[in-house]
Amino acid sequence: MTHPLQHLVKTPDEIAKMRVAGQLAASVLTMIEPYVVAGTSTEALDQRCHDYITNHLKAIPAPLNYRGFPKSICTSINHVVCHGIPRVDKILKEGDIINIDITVIKDGYHGDTSRMFTVGKVSTQANRLVQIARECLFIGIELVKPGASLKTIGQAIEEHASKHHYSSVREYCGHGIGSSFHEEGLQVLHYDDHTIPDIQLIPGLTFTIEPMINIGKRFTKTLNDDWTVITKDRSLSAQWEHTLLCTDDGVDILTRREGEKTDPIV
Ligand code: MF3
Ligand code: CO
Ligand code: CO
Repeated sequence: MTHPLQHLVKTPDEIAKMRVAGQLAASVLTMIEPYVVAGTSTEALDQRCHDYITNHLKAIPAPLNYRGFPKSICTSINHVVCHGIPRVDKILKEGDIINIDITVIKDGYHGDTSRMFTVGKVSTQANRLVQIARECLFIGIELVKPGASLKTIGQAIEEHASKHHYSSVREYCGHGIGSSFHEEGLQVLHYDDHTIPDIQLIPGLTFTIEPMINIGKRFTKTLNDDWTVITKDRSLSAQWEHTLLCTDDGVDILTRREGEKTDPIV
């Protein structure tokens, strides 16, 4: 019997292109870091990333005009869970935590990655959330290998969040990625769900893991702009994301940044 995700397995040539796209996306996060400071607008961050992606990387910012999204990156501050829209009047201030989510298209293939930044000195609470959310991502990544079931990833992520009395958002999940931004058929839940059919990973699959972890309850609400997702209880939320390749014996982090630690707990 053929595997249900066989059609999503990438050829060596496609994997080479995914590696390039992944490394370009990672380089945008490295480039933008020094600019994530108090007083900067999220619009200015968007412009800088847009120019870097188009002029320097000669790539395409995938969010721009994706299902009507108006900007080139997502900027999600504090209680914003994901899909925050950069704005001139949204100014970073000391104590903020912000997720910047970058997706680039190079040679027809996507690289999708995001990380948290802290602005100046942030509260102990906020720092802890940011750190545990990162651990949730890497605990998921560590489980990736042929034969591993997708379900165990969600279970491990939710378990780690709960252990710290945090919750894991359910409305958004990791996704297959390749020549499309979000591939049908491969979803990586960041929570435990007994009701869905389980799927085993096979070499050559490329997908993201991107847990959104809240200090308060897991529930979210979308604002009237139809994009910005916030926590219903306005508690802080943090997210980290990588694009991954299931290899013959484990995992490759296609969007790993230079010098980035990959241990779940550092
Ligand atoms: N990068 C997001 C993800 O991780 C998707 C953003 S869609 C956009 O899947 F339109 F808001 F950009
Ligand atoms: Co993604
Ligand atoms: Co993303």
